[in-house]
Amino acid sequence: MKRRDFVKSSGTILCSCMTGIGLSSLISCEDNSYDSYETDQDSNNGDISISIDISLPEHSMLSEVNGTSFLSANVIDSKGLLLVRSSNATIKAFSRRCTHSSYQIVPYNSNGIANCSSSHGGSFDLNGNVVNSPPVSSLRSYETSLENNILKISK
Ligand code: FES
Repeated sequence: MKRRDFVKSSGTILCSCMTGIGLSSLISCEDNSYDSYETDQDSNNGDISISIDISLPEHSMLSEVNGTSFLSANVIDSKGLLLVRSSNATIKAFSRRCTHSSYQIVPYNSNGIANCSSSHGGSFDLNGNVVNSPPVSSLRSYETSLENNILKISK
């Protein structure tokens, strides 16, 4: 085998191996994630959005007004998102980053209160407003749109 042929075939094998490793990494990352969503980026303005199917079992509580759900860390918010169905046509999305000292907010409880995971005592209501201090400002909210069962969240 000539040197050129060897380099060419070695490169092909190396690329095949790297592709295999890359794919298995991607698959294992997805397997570790509970959340299922699609990511999109607007080529005009760079806005990033994710779309989730709220008919999935993990979001079944969003079928009723004041029902809630949540997402783990994602491209929209590194602390994750709290989701609240505020009307038949609207689902709100709030950051899970506490406005006091950036600890993660725990998903809403059955009373519609989301507590901070710190031991500071902060909590928020279904509108993202402070219920208990020390936080003084509401949770960051993100733009949402709902079409059929697809919820799009943008930043
Ligand atoms: S970080 Fe949430 S109450 Fe302090």
